[in-house]
Amino acid sequence: MVANLYDWLMLVHIIAAMIWLGGLVALIVLATQAVRSGESDVVARFVANLRVTGLLLFLPAMALVLGLGIWMVFDSSAWSFAQGWIRLSLTLFAAAFVVGAVFQSRTAILAGRAVTHGQQAEATRQLRRWVWGGRVILLILLVATWPWSSSPAPSCRARGCRRTNTSLSALRLTSVV
Ligand code: HEM
Repeated sequence: MVANLYDWLMLVHIIAAMIWLGGLVALIVLATQAVRSGESDVVARFVANLRVTGLLLFLPAMALVLGLGIWMVFDSSAWSFAQGWIRLSLTLFAAAFVVGAVFQSRTAILAGRAVTHGQQAEATRQLRRWVWGGRVILLILLVATWPWSSSPAPSCRARGCRRTNTSLSALRLTSVV
């Protein structure tokens, strides 16, 4: 079987979601260790890395998850923005984005500033808040990855129906939406 455009979009969409989720898990573990260590240089090094990972890892991964998710909706006649699970995916993405952009980036900036001014206790406090923001985003992503919210396709497949794309006839999924 030859992979079509939709298959590639889905592959990269899923890989980007894995990078986002997996990267966040790793950073939460490392941040927790840095906070527990109580050592100022460990906290300072971690805070310095947050900016790099945010820009090079999370931003591209988030853009790919959203961009390719929307592209798949346009590419497949099975999906539309009126469907409940698509709206849920968009809402969950927006929630994760808001927590990341508003709360987490602010705590990272404040932690960076505290490190610059040699305020160890404040840097650790902001990093602890960052970990809490990360946990909230993690929870949102886990809900988004859950089969019933990421796509009704598994239950559809279980009933023997097949995904389609714009080149094939429309697939009606009204019973699972
Ligand atoms: C919030 C973060 C998101 C995560 C963690 C996520 C994760 C996933 C996963 C794991 C799948 C594979 C599910 C399966 O094969 O049944 C999937 C599929 C898909 N996602 Fe997302 N997704 C997210 C956001 C979005 C957004 C914002 C959209 C677009 C509005 C979207 C549209 C889709 C589409 C169209 C599929 C393909 C469904 C299929 O053909 O089976 N996703 N997503």
